[in-house]
Amino acid sequence: MQTKPAYRIREAIPSDLEEMLQMRGRLQDHFADSDERVLPLSPKSMADARALYTRRIESTAVSCAVAEHTATGTLVGMAIGSIHPPEGPVRSPSGHIDDVWVEPAHRHNGLCRALTRYVTVFFLERGLEQVGLSYLFANEKAARTWTRLGFVPFNVSAYAGTRALLDQLDGPNGGT
Ligand SMILES: CC(C)(COP(=O)(O)OP(=O)(O)OC[C@H]1O[C@@H](n2cnc3c(N)ncnc32)[C@H](O)[C@@H]1OP(=O)(O)O)[C@@H](O)C(=O)NCCC(=O)NCCS
Repeated sequence: MQTKPAYRIREAIPSDLEEMLQMRGRLQDHFADSDERVLPLSPKSMADARALYTRRIESTAVSCAVAEHTATGTLVGMAIGSIHPPEGPVRSPSGHIDDVWVEPAHRHNGLCRALTRYVTVFFLERGLEQVGLSYLFANEKAARTWTRLGFVPFNVSAYAGTRALLDQLDGPNGGT
């Protein structure tokens, strides 16, 4: 007897919206836990996320990959692939991966790898030569995962507290 695969990676459909929004909320909480400068989703930003995800699921220019747990029919992971125009130092349109989430009980089963593969095929079919994503510096597990999957930091953004920056600039080694 053939056994059913434990997971199915597929394109999201409109009835997936609520489960995807719940995962988006958990992802934001994870970001906020990683770095105190990140806020959890407010009711207003949750409403914005609903509108954005509705558009994303409908759009043929966006790939909303979801991982369905076949035994329960529930969604346990997602990744959004969209096309970015040339911007900043990136000279041609590129694929961009956002909102990658795998439920904790289903991690280390290759789901992030499979979701990334799914959206990368989508990008390749559209002739895109580069795939990018962003992650918080404090999100060390994500950094290790993306490095393992072949991503190399390219454009680094860095922040300093305004007051701390002035103190640093005016300190013993600052000034002219
Ligand atoms: C990061 C995350 C998506 C990884 O999902 P996952 O399904 O467990 O990852 P996979 O099983 O596909 O692993 C992919 C590769 O990354 C590595 N990896 C995954 N989690 C890792 C960890 N915590 N530490 C080190 N390496 C890790 C694996 O070893 C694997 O490499 P391999 O296949 O060569 O062994 C998941 O931990 C998660 O949802 N984290 C919270 C949300 C988040 O940080 N999202 C990313 C935002 S940018």
